[in-house]
Amino acid sequence: MKGKRILVTAGPTCESIDPVRYITNHSSGKMGYALAKMACLRGADVTLVSGPVDLIPPIGAEFVPITTAREMFEAVTKISDKQDIIIKAAAVADYRPKHISDDKVKKADNELSIELERTDDILAYLGAHRKPGQFLCGFSMETRDMLGNSRAKLKKKNLDMIAANNLKVEGAGFQGDTNVLTLITQDEEVSLPLMSKEEAAAKILDKILSLIQKEKA
Ligand code: CTP
Repeated sequence: MKGKRILVTAGPTCESIDPVRYITNHSSGKMGYALAKMACLRGADVTLVSGPVDLIPPIGAEFVPITTAREMFEAVTKISDKQDIIIKAAAVADYRPKHISDDKVKKADNELSIELERTDDILAYLGAHRKPGQFLCGFSMETRDMLGNSRAKLKKKNLDMIAANNLKVEGAGFQGDTNVLTLITQDEEVSLPLMSKEEAAAKILDKILSLIQKEKA
């Protein structure tokens, strides 16, 4: 992958409610960090844009830490034009609190509702604005109708490939060191067996490179 610029996003985003609390998800960042590491080992120029996680970025990768979906949008779109490959493994919040309270929200005896507004869909933006020849890979996490829902995202967000996983399958998902992925493109679906996230990252990179090669031929 020498000479190839690759941007990987990883981890969750955190959306503040007040100075004390935030909304987030269970993403560990392990899949994205494995992708960044494997791409570095293959000689690519790697940028890793990551939400807050408990992992050390791979040596050799340019590291851009962010917290919110808005910050990830800004960090990614600032450099997306220069990238040959973008892999969006991050679990970006789809909603954020509409108002962030300056002071700690105090409890009362009644119930509390928090009004949420949509965040930018970064991947959809990249799909709509990508430069010719750029390869775009998304991730899709589902709990049912994984193939149908993931195919719909592939089309809607104008992607070349989507790596889908079902949170309810043993060994797949957020926190563990393994994953069970299906790599979906317009023409095919490749089901990978249970493997480590690093092995899965290698398979994803192999598939991307072979698709780029095919496109060139
Ligand atoms: N994604 C993104 N920006 C968002 C939400 C998601 O870039 N605001 C990206 C993720 O990084 C991932 C892909 O979109 O690569 C799919 O994310 P997922 O949460 O599975 O799907 P959504 O499009 O958010 O749809 P839903 O949550 O309804 O399943």
